[in-house]
Amino acid sequence: MISDKLVLPFAGAVICLLVLSSKQVRAIVAKYFQSPILNDKANTETKEEKPKQTMQKPSPLMITPEQVKNWDDRPWRPFRWPYHQTMSIYKLDINHWLDMDKYYWHYIQEKERIWHKYGRENIDWLPESEDACLELMEIVTEHMVDRYPLLFTVLADKKEKGKIIRNELTKEILDMTLPLKEHPLMYVTKMAKEDFYVVLKNPTDGLHYLVAAAVPFPGGSFGINHKIGKHLDIIHDDVPYYHEKLKKSMERWFEKLDEFSPVERASWYITWDHKLKVNNIYQLPKFVPNLESDMKSTDPKDFNIRVERQTLRRLPRSRAIIFTNHPIFYSIDEMKDEPNVPSLLRKIIYEAPESIIKYKNFQFIRDHISGYLDSLINRQKDLGLISDDTPVKTLPTYPFAHWTKTDFDMHNGWSNPKFPEKKPDYRESMQAETKFGNE
Ligand code: HEM
Repeated sequence: MISDKLVLPFAGAVICLLVLSSKQVRAIVAKYFQSPILNDKANTETKEEKPKQTMQKPSPLMITPEQVKNWDDRPWRPFRWPYHQTMSIYKLDINHWLDMDKYYWHYIQEKERIWHKYGRENIDWLPESEDACLELMEIVTEHMVDRYPLLFTVLADKKEKGKIIRNELTKEILDMTLPLKEHPLMYVTKMAKEDFYVVLKNPTDGLHYLVAAAVPFPGGSFGINHKIGKHLDIIHDDVPYYHEKLKKSMERWFEKLDEFSPVERASWYITWDHKLKVNNIYQLPKFVPNLESDMKSTDPKDFNIRVERQTLRRLPRSRAIIFTNHPIFYSIDEMKDEPNVPSLLRKIIYEAPESIIKYKNFQFIRDHISGYLDSLINRQKDLGLISDDTPVKTLPTYPFAHWTKTDFDMHNGWSNPKFPEKKPDYRESMQAETKFGNE
């Protein structure tokens, strides 16, 4: 029995509960009685709907073919100290998926030369990659047209039957209407200067396999014919610390990678040439018996860093993972006034973990260039850029040069403000560099 004194408040409470919607009641009850089940339910019901994610679209960069002739790529400085092997990935601003620079024509010509001379050693595909390659071609086309409206023109859009575009840089017309006259990777190769790897997960064993690749510029001494059809563990077998440190996190990360969150990373090595297919530092004695004397007769000033700039993104339809790699050369000379860069290089080539030194062949060149690096370190001290006490460690603006943000200019891309005249142009020296039998 409810006592008379309680009748009024009780009736009030009942009326209140009837007036409140069941959603509110659950929320109140959950709040006061701390029921986890109710709480969960109430939370999901009261939470605002998450906005639907959409794939990032690049914003247009209105550079003309004439401006590209002078355009510098971003100044990567991916030098780390202490040197731990980690995934070292960063969120990719989609505007930089397929960057442009003044070497564009040179790269596209080299791709053509390598395809004609080496064929499927560098560009190859397996039958199961068909859908992914077609989707890649569509996505690269869309990206180029959206990002560089003055460099790529749509001549005809036949919707699901494909597009015809003109590459305003090479003046080539690319008819990508169905049925295609060439393999989709050939069109991709004629638009972007990046190398492309297409990776698919095999549902049977859950492993990721390389199913197609347009890789004219591997840089090291491997052809894609040694990698195609292999899974990532085999591909990375020789990479230091892959099995101990990278494998697990990479697998986890691949599972989570969606089409909305592309990433980028960069690795690097030192060489004394600018070749794109196989660099001297990775040449094999069977092709170049006099490699050491060739290296030693090269002025240390002519050594440079090859940065391998990489991106990873998921294609929405085929679910393929697209891995791109793009070599960029920076002369050590052009970085000489960047505080700590010569010190970092010197430290890494002598003190990095032994397996990394071996993988990057640092031991082959380091005694030849160390005197030059020392002179640059002393120069930085004389100029007051560093002192004896400056710790040698990863740059605060890693993975880019310290001037990157402040010196972007719409006419030159990212030109080093400290470099005395024009940034070095390696196109001519590249033509003059010795051609070995495998390039
Ligand atoms: C987050 C993902 C990845 C990470 C962290 C990673 C890491 C690495 C590292 C550390 C190296 C050694 C060179 C260096 O110092 O950077 C390497 C080499 C390589 N990676 Fe990856 N990688 C990733 C994804 C991929 C994918 C998807 C492919 C596509 C097939 C790939 C293909 C290669 C190849 C071909 C090499 C050269 C191997 C050799 O020297 O024989 N990587 N990777």
